[in-house]
Amino acid sequence: MEFLGNEMLTVKDGKLKIDGHDAGELAKMYETPLYVMSETQTVKNFERYVESFKEYSEKTGKETIFSFAYKANTNLALTKLLSKLGCGADIVSAGELYIAKISNVPSEKIVFNGNCKLKEEIKMGIETKIRAFNVDSISDLILINETAKEMGKIANVAFRVNPNVDPKTHPKISTGMKKNKFGLDIESGIALQTIKMAEKMENVKIVGIHCHIGSQLTEISPFVEETRKIMDFVVLLKNEGININDVNLGGGLGIPYDKQKVIPVQKDLAKAILSVIYEYESKIELPNLILEPGRSIVATSGVLLGTVKHIKDTPVAKWIMIDAGMNDMMRPAIYEAYHEITSCTLRSEKEVVSIAGGLCESSDVFGKDRELSKIEVNDTIAILDVGAYGISMANNYNSRGKPAMVLTSEKEVSIIRERETLADLISKDIVPNHLL
Ligand SMILES: Cc1ncc(COP(=O)(O)O)c(C=O)c1O
Repeated sequence: MEFLGNEMLTVKDGKLKIDGHDAGELAKMYETPLYVMSETQTVKNFERYVESFKEYSEKTGKETIFSFAYKANTNLALTKLLSKLGCGADIVSAGELYIAKISNVPSEKIVFNGNCKLKEEIKMGIETKIRAFNVDSISDLILINETAKEMGKIANVAFRVNPNVDPKTHPKISTGMKKNKFGLDIESGIALQTIKMAEKMENVKIVGIHCHIGSQLTEISPFVEETRKIMDFVVLLKNEGININDVNLGGGLGIPYDKQKVIPVQKDLAKAILSVIYEYESKIELPNLILEPGRSIVATSGVLLGTVKHIKDTPVAKWIMIDAGMNDMMRPAIYEAYHEITSCTLRSEKEVVSIAGGLCESSDVFGKDRELSKIEVNDTIAILDVGAYGISMANNYNSRGKPAMVLTSEKEVSIIRERETLADLISKDIVPNHLL
């Protein structure tokens, strides 16, 4: 089998290796379900962004900032790793801001997104002196201004605009079309009206324009359309006497979940976006560039290992039941997402099987009718490309503890998240006196 995008995976003597470590052995040593994150792959994915976009700062003298979308994965080892590499943080909650601060992300590389920010979160962002709040509505702007006023401070604001661009992705992860809840509509004039309101406010400073049209984009054309609409809007603002320092184009670059399909990578994204931005050189002073990639930095780095516990034949399928379930990795259940699956022991005989978890839900299925190498009870199964929106969406449904997590490099394996215990499952519940 081919591992497009998963350079940390190899097969030796019929055994799957992650950064050279035998996946079946990792499963035995740390038990399953187990998330394995490759440090090597994460560094490569991030450095490809730096490398692909480095010409922008060289040519223009402007900043290029990559703010990792924390929602993709907030494991502290990963956020610290990325922060050490010079990566910023795109956050959407007090929790994510807290993690960014603990990870030593410089405040000027933190951007605060979200369509329903809370006053306490805004306060925390102002205290941290973040680079910008990405304003999503007039009421969001008013709350930011009022909060800053009460604190005797000025808050930096960028405006999340909705450019009405079809990202050609799954509808549940599309965010920049008119029908979506996000952003300030450009066409109707709402975005301009909001920015003009901000101009008159005393406790906000206008610093940028922001946009994020969706996730898992596998074509470049929507990014081109987005960039052009944003740059046109920046020109319009300049003509209104409003100068924009930062243009933030969000995240969204997809990864090859389907190993048969070659899709654009960081350098294709850079080439497309930058060539549009350069077209505006004569019309405006080019801005600092911010991107918020999540999936394309960590998805391909992650593998979820599960152990085969039962094998069952029905008239229509052969079911392989593993100890990982939809509570560990929700994507197939909520988006019908495709993830490549492989046995960690590759035998020459093949069979068509369906792979399921043990939760009491028919949607707890990782893959249907897949041709895999013959599987036996106690084999380790690997679900690929789970490093983004995997552990960060994990939950305790069916009272199952969240899985453990290890970080691999060619040199070592480190545990980076403990498995939740039975006691953890009830640690926040309180039984009133009359029921004791
Ligand atoms: C505002 C914003 N920025 C960035 C991202 C990251 O997107 P991706 O993981 O597709 O790069 C998201 C994800 O939905 C988002 O909502």
